[in-house]
Amino acid sequence: MKVMNGSSRITTPDNSSIWVDKYAPRIASEILGNSDAVSKVMNWLSIWTGGRIPEKRAILLFGPTGTGKTSLVYAIASESGYEVVEINASDKRDRETLRRLIGSSSSLGSLFSEIKGRILLIDEVDGLSGDEDRGGVSAIIETIKETRNPIILTANDKWDSKIRSLHSHCLSIETRRIIVSTVVNALSKICRKEGIRPNVEALKIIADHSNGDLRSAINDLQAFAEGKREISVDDVNGLSARRDRVKGIFEGLREMFQADTFRKALYSIESLDIDHDMLIQWVYENIPREFTNPSELSQAFDALSRADIFLGRIKRSQDWGLLSYVYELMSAGVALARTTSQRRFVSYSFPNYIRGLSATRARRGALREVCLKIGSRTHTSTREILHEYLPTVRTIMENSANMAGRMIKWFDLNEEDIDAITGGKKIKVVKEKKAKTPDKKKTKNKEKPKQAKQTLLF
Ligand SMILES: Nc1ncnc2c1ncn2[C@@H]1O[C@H](COP(=O)(O)OP(=O)(O)O)[C@@H](O)[C@H]1O
Ligand SMILES: [Mg+2]
Repeated sequence: MKVMNGSSRITTPDNSSIWVDKYAPRIASEILGNSDAVSKVMNWLSIWTGGRIPEKRAILLFGPTGTGKTSLVYAIASESGYEVVEINASDKRDRETLRRLIGSSSSLGSLFSEIKGRILLIDEVDGLSGDEDRGGVSAIIETIKETRNPIILTANDKWDSKIRSLHSHCLSIETRRIIVSTVVNALSKICRKEGIRPNVEALKIIADHSNGDLRSAINDLQAFAEGKREISVDDVNGLSARRDRVKGIFEGLREMFQADTFRKALYSIESLDIDHDMLIQWVYENIPREFTNPSELSQAFDALSRADIFLGRIKRSQDWGLLSYVYELMSAGVALARTTSQRRFVSYSFPNYIRGLSATRARRGALREVCLKIGSRTHTSTREILHEYLPTVRTIMENSANMAGRMIKWFDLNEEDIDAITGGKKIKVVKEKKAKTPDKKKTKNKEKPKQAKQTLLF
């Protein structure tokens, strides 16, 4: 849960080196396009401010990414004297908080005279997934029914099946794609503030490319124009050439982590010949090597986790247009987490995850073998063996060298099979003498002290 009052969100981004934050709207009049959405939200909020409860206690603000949903909430809140409490509905701890918060009326406002109340913001509700989140949606509905505070939910896709049940409890308000001329204006304003001479043609190319997503347009602008005096059509046309150069992953990571501008960070990984799933693992593995200062570390992981959220959304929705965010967050988002620490030489490491993956893949293959062997004796399915027999077999093998020996012989297991069963853990085994089906007599023999000398380690 994050609690932001209007000013805290305004002051931090202002110093931000990321332009989308630096130039985020602070008051309602700075929100571009979407005047309809702005006035609807403001009208609804004024009912709360007047001490009444509107018919719908929650708003579902939906629309494409980068059209200003989140910034709209913060801008209107700060202008109207509200504090924003951002809740992550898929987080159980936050759900507890949610329950506590709905009980507390806006009386909190009287503690800090300038704060009229709290807006509960549940951002990107359609990003919830899995069982946890089904609970999340019903918790949200319960909350909406009882709340004494205004609640705003945002979503990219109003019709996402997970959130359809929310419709009847919310006032739906849409944000729309920002039209090209508005995007061009916004970009040229930023150029002027950054001391860059805007070239309308170039800005138009960026704007066209953004498809009404102002966030991606501003990010592209920062990538092309930061640190320059002017931006030309050539710069922008160079867009596609960026991916041409292929370089080593270690070199790329170094460049990325050492980058001091958005553009450098983004370029350094875009030219790598490695896919985003892998790359995210590389970055994850190496963030703690690069950053030792706790606040930078947490900032960097925060950016990476956002990249991961986008990646999850892409996989569910197949909306590959969001991929640029993944790249931006895991490169610039991570690199610009650096505030005070010095750049230094770091030895990067190969991701554990990938090592682990090949190890588990090998183990899964080996386990299948084991199941076949056991199955040929027990006449049971692989599935049953995997879930019901193996845990027992493993426990027995780990605890009795004699029984281990007998099982190994009975099931005809080799070293690899044993490794697969125990997960590589070394066990003691009293070897069986003959590779034949043991009967009870023979079994007894195996437990003679004489044979215990043959204890082996696998
Ligand atoms: N309508 C808008 N007016 C002004 N700035 C916007 C608008 N939409 C997006 N932006 C810019 O893009 C950034 C991301 O917008 P955001 O509110 O996070 O979009 P969403 O929540 O719809 O994905 C903002 O910080 C701001 O810089
Ligand atoms: Mg948002």
